[in-house]
Amino acid sequence: MCGIVGYIGPQPAAPILLKGLEKLEYRGYDSAGIAVRDLERLSVIKTVGRLQDLRARLEEQGVPQGSLGIGHTRWATHGRPSDINAHPHSDCSGRIAVVHNGIIENYKELREWLVEEGHTFKSETDTETIAHLIERFYEGDLVDAVRKTIKRLEGSFALGVLHFDQPQEIVAARQHSPLVVGLGDGENFLASDIPAVLEHTKKVYIIDDGEVVRLTSDQAEIFDFAGRPVRKEIFEVAWDPVLAEKGGYPHFMLKEIYEQPQAVRDTLQGRLNGGRVVLPDLTLDLAYLRGLRKIFITAAGTAYHAGIVGKYVIEKLARIPVEVDLSSEFRYRNPMLGPDCLTIVISQSGETADTLASLREAKRLGSKVLAITNVVGSSVTRETPEVIYTLAGPEIAVASTKAYTTQLIALYLFALYLAQERQTLSEQQLAEYIAALEQLPQAISATLSCEEAVVGLAQEFKDKEDIFFIGRGLDYAVAMEGSLKLKEISYIHAEAYAAGELKHGTLALIVEGVPVFALITQESLRDKMISNIKEVKARGATVIGVANEGDRFAEEACDQVIFIPRTNEILTPVLAVAPLQLFAYHAALARGCDVDKPRNLAKSVTVE
Ligand code: G6P
Repeated sequence: MCGIVGYIGPQPAAPILLKGLEKLEYRGYDSAGIAVRDLERLSVIKTVGRLQDLRARLEEQGVPQGSLGIGHTRWATHGRPSDINAHPHSDCSGRIAVVHNGIIENYKELREWLVEEGHTFKSETDTETIAHLIERFYEGDLVDAVRKTIKRLEGSFALGVLHFDQPQEIVAARQHSPLVVGLGDGENFLASDIPAVLEHTKKVYIIDDGEVVRLTSDQAEIFDFAGRPVRKEIFEVAWDPVLAEKGGYPHFMLKEIYEQPQAVRDTLQGRLNGGRVVLPDLTLDLAYLRGLRKIFITAAGTAYHAGIVGKYVIEKLARIPVEVDLSSEFRYRNPMLGPDCLTIVISQSGETADTLASLREAKRLGSKVLAITNVVGSSVTRETPEVIYTLAGPEIAVASTKAYTTQLIALYLFALYLAQERQTLSEQQLAEYIAALEQLPQAISATLSCEEAVVGLAQEFKDKEDIFFIGRGLDYAVAMEGSLKLKEISYIHAEAYAAGELKHGTLALIVEGVPVFALITQESLRDKMISNIKEVKARGATVIGVANEGDRFAEEACDQVIFIPRTNEILTPVLAVAPLQLFAYHAALARGCDVDKPRNLAKSVTVE
């Protein structure tokens, strides 16, 4: 997601800030900016686009000369990518500058209050609210003003704050969004991520949730939100700069797999409230939702697999028939759409050519369109007003992982929202689903502890020519995603099959020693699955089950089982996919493949 840097010391700040931001470029961003204090003013220079655009703007306007500054690369969440929405943001007086990572959930209420108090806003961002709040509370002590501001904020934040009247300090704070202080000699650094400071120092303080920092050139004072001093151990970074970019992981894919609990938490944030689903950005009215005749889901690749889960879930919870199409098929098949239909397009990038064409086709045929995407301001969001953003943060590895799980979350949220508005679930049922959703981040973390076992499997199967994935119901949808992951990065031929369909073809390929991953998370289909497992075992397959914790029938039927924590039956895909992602990763690694950049594939396919 967004990147933060800060510098205070004897050197000109601007070049150091720009270099720091460069180190965070790998995270993806759509705009960038810096604020530097010199003797006369606090200059804020920012632009939509890349760092080279920011450099060009600095050349045009003149590089500010001060040695105190903050900088930011933005990945839009509230408000499109634009010059105005780029960080740093200022208050009315222009004496305060703020950079922020995270999301302020209650910014609309705060903004209304501040406007009533006479503040004037320039951007559409949640962050600008913070600058005005600090202005409102500032009485000569910046740490105090930041603390008072934080008390009003709901959501997540890492902050860097400058005030023209405080030439000797940067104030920073953290709540659910990473922040570090880099300790130099007579100079200090601030950053959202370690790579941004590594060139200057390997000594850092890792700031924890609930902490505020007053950073001067020779000191970093840390307090809790109540103002009590906090003592911290210095952390010596042992990573080389390349490893640091990946947060210490050897590949982006592995890093992104491990980011899934956080990505799911972020996607749920602010959307569940008092036992109800709230999707305030949607404008679909109740009469339309109640009168919906049919839903079409269209997407490509991994997003298509999320769509298949969406079909099962929407039909089950909201009782509306759903068709799922590959975007490349949908656009040419003359689908029977009309004003009483809804078309859901799912696209991580929001730029996939076939998905965009499907969106246009659906609109042409009179259907409303809802986009589920990870990129604010992407093409799909410009063509429909109805958007549910996944908050996975930038996904760099070509093979999609955290985007998939957050697409599932967006679909669960929408299905529950439909059920709530159409009253197809009781209050109690709704509350149970919501409670189960809230448990998911923790359950994903627990599931990821299977990595060691998966490494063993990858070693055992790395030279196999074919690997099969079977399942029924939602497990079949997950099998498809597991199979796609494996083939795209390890180049092992992989095939997903509906377990009940095996005997109509694929069973002919099951011979001695062929690995079969069997997903057994759907309690109501378990006995059927066990029969299918027996079919493949009888032909000599080695069966690896993915099953609910404590399922001894699964354990007896398979050669080895990876257990996932028990959850509601419709939510198991979020957990069951994790071991399959890890297996694909380790199989690719064991075969010496370029995990993050598989041959012939691209992250975003903007041509047909
Ligand atoms: C490419 C990527 C996949 C992705 C698919 C759809 O094939 O390699 O990871 O699932 O495009 O992309 P989208 O951005 O529309 O979700």
